[in-house]
This record gives sequence, structure tokens and C-alpha cells, in this order.
Amino acid sequence: MSSTSQFDQITDRNNLNSDKWAKYPEDVIPMWVADMDFDSPMCVKQALQERVSKGVFGYTFAPKSLIEAIQTHCQTHYDWLPNGAHLVHLPGLVCALHLSVRTFSEPGERIIVPAPVYYHLTRAAEISDRVLETIPFEVKENRWTIDIESMAQACAKPDAKMILLCNPHNPGGTVYTRNELEAIHALAKQHDLIVVSDEIHCDLILSQSKHIPFASLNEDAAQRSITLMAPSKTYNIAGLGYAFAVIPNSALRKQFSSARGAIVPAPNLLALVAAEAAYRDGEPWRKELVNYLSANRDYIQQRIAGTPLQLVGMEATYLAWIDASGLGLYDPYQYFLDRGVGLSPGKDFGHGQFVRLNFGCPRAQLEKALDRMLVDLY
Ligand SMILES: Cc1ncc(COP(=O)(O)O)c(C=O)c1O
Repeated sequence: MSSTSQFDQITDRNNLNSDKWAKYPEDVIPMWVADMDFDSPMCVKQALQERVSKGVFGYTFAPKSLIEAIQTHCQTHYDWLPNGAHLVHLPGLVCALHLSVRTFSEPGERIIVPAPVYYHLTRAAEISDRVLETIPFEVKENRWTIDIESMAQACAKPDAKMILLCNPHNPGGTVYTRNELEAIHALAKQHDLIVVSDEIHCDLILSQSKHIPFASLNEDAAQRSITLMAPSKTYNIAGLGYAFAVIPNSALRKQFSSARGAIVPAPNLLALVAAEAAYRDGEPWRKELVNYLSANRDYIQQRIAGTPLQLVGMEATYLAWIDASGLGLYDPYQYFLDRGVGLSPGKDFGHGQFVRLNFGCPRAQLEKALDRMLVDLY
């Protein structure tokens, strides 16, 4: 890795009202929430500065130029051209998960979610009186995969209504293969289920795997799906708040949009500006980022080799799902916190013997965090 990478630069975020940096005392290195310690790309900063200099910030809408930038991005990277009229613009992706569950299912209906998983996918079902059924991930050939047989059993239950996918999967970094997605689609079709696919991490593939949007599989998949994407994780603009849903089925789109209109605000004007700049001009930056993150992931693998910690091969995301069960502790999260590293506790995602480490940070910070974590583990 080049020692002169722009991603080596340390930005002091202590006085920037950062959730990540405010959570723990100053002597703890925060390596938790999915927010990177990198500046956003120059093209984003410039577009924002230019727009702020205009001085008017009234109600707004997603311009055609943003829609075109999204379409070009999806076509170039995923060989998938969403129709601009099928997009619903949102201030974030989490609200769309909850909104989808409440709009497209009834209390008492079954929501099927591969897990451990980013907690809003399970919470969306839990806090709306739906029946949550999680499908366990298991390790096969050094990769987290779902047990399709368990999925088939869940989908066959008479109250089954919806599958919530996270692809690429957080945590674990699995990028679903075409075969896997086709198997899931076959079940959704057979049992007439809606598929909500959270693809927020799709631009952060760290391997040779290719991201395949669920909706791009075939026309039936498109018609029964809500695809959720956002530039926030990739370009580090989560604080601005923008995401979009792609809903090709007009009845579903109308239902979703009218539920949205009542309770979810429109995206922020500056978020729209940042999203457009990121998708249109951020590609060289994104490529460098992905290289940097891949090297960070490999570095973690090297450092933990020979310790009781384990990390299954990650295909995507900057969120390492570390198995700490080899330590034989009740609470591995607390163990690492006591050593000065603030990780995400695995129990937040459904497994208390794991911790999640965010390696979207300069290498020097990662080294320091690993030094503290591994000090007496070799
Ligand atoms: C899978 C997944 N979905 C959604 C989100 C959050 O989306 P937003 O900030 O747009 O609400 C995250 C953040 O970590 C995530 O990992």
C-alpha cells in the first residue's frame, strides 16, 4: 500500500459533533458505527460549497441530473438501469425499512430476515407487531452463507409475507451470488412474497465478487421488490441524509409513496447536491477507497492470525465481523473496551460472542486499535 494515500490523513473529528467520536471517553479509539474517518471526496465538498454560496435553501426536489447520475452509476456498475420514474427519494434508508414493513405487511404476518444482521432489519418487524423469523448464516468455504433450506421452510409458512435482505450483508460482508439470489427469488415467487433489499453497501465490494441488485434478476423479481440504495456509506456523507428506493411495481410504489408523504420528510437539499456529485464524479475516489479498505481488511487478517480471534473472508463492507468466542469470555465487547477500543457489540446484531470492527479509518488508527486489542492474545 502506498504510504502517501489520501486515506492515511488523520482528521480530528473530536469537535465535529461526530456520533462516532462522542460516544466514548477520549482515550478510547472509536471503531463502531458504520461511518468512516475519511474526508468525503473533493467533488462532494466542492459541489456543497458552490451550492451553499447561492444562499437560498427553500423546499426542493430531486433534480433530473441526480436521477441521471444514479441511473448511469447503476448501469455502469450493475448492468441495471432503473427507470427514473420508479425512484422514491428519501432522507435515509432506515426509515424505508420500517416504512416497507408497515406498508406491505399486516401485524401478525411473518417477516423473514437472514441474520445476524444490521439491527434495523429485525427491529422493523419486532416493533411493528410482525412475526420475525431469522434465518441463520453459517460459514461455508470461508464465507457466510444462508441455509436455503431454512429459508424455504420459513417462506412456506402461511403467514409469510416479506423477505428482508441485506446485500452486501452487514455484518459478515457476504455478497450474494446470482445462484443464491435466484434461489431466494424462486421462493418469493412460489409463496408470493415481497422482497425488500437493503443494498446500501453495494459500492463497497472488496473482492472479485459482483454485486447483483435483486431487482435486476428478472421482471418478476423487479415487480415484487423494493431496492434500497444510498451514497452515504461509500462517500461518507451519512450525516447529510439521502437514500433512494427503486420500486418498479406501480401499485407498490404508490402505496409506499403515500405512506412516506405522511410521515417521512423529503431529503435535505444539500444531501441531494452531495449525492449527485458523488455518483457523477466520485468514481476515482471510490476506487482508491476500495483499494485502501481491502488492504486494511487484509492487514486485520494478518494481525489476528495466531490469536483466538477469527474473521471469515469478507467480500464487502468495512465492517469486520470478528468471532471472539475463542477468548471464552462472557462479554468480549467489554473486554476490548477495557483495553481502549470501542467496537460494536455483537449482541446488537444477534450474536454476543462477536464484535464488529469498523476499519474505515487511516491505517495508523487501525494499527493502534489492533495493538490494544491483541496486546496479550498471541
Ligand atoms: C445495512 C444498513 N442499512 C442501513 C443503514 C443506515 O442507513 P441510513 O443512515 O441511510 O438510515 C446502515 C448503516 O450502518 C446499514 O449498515
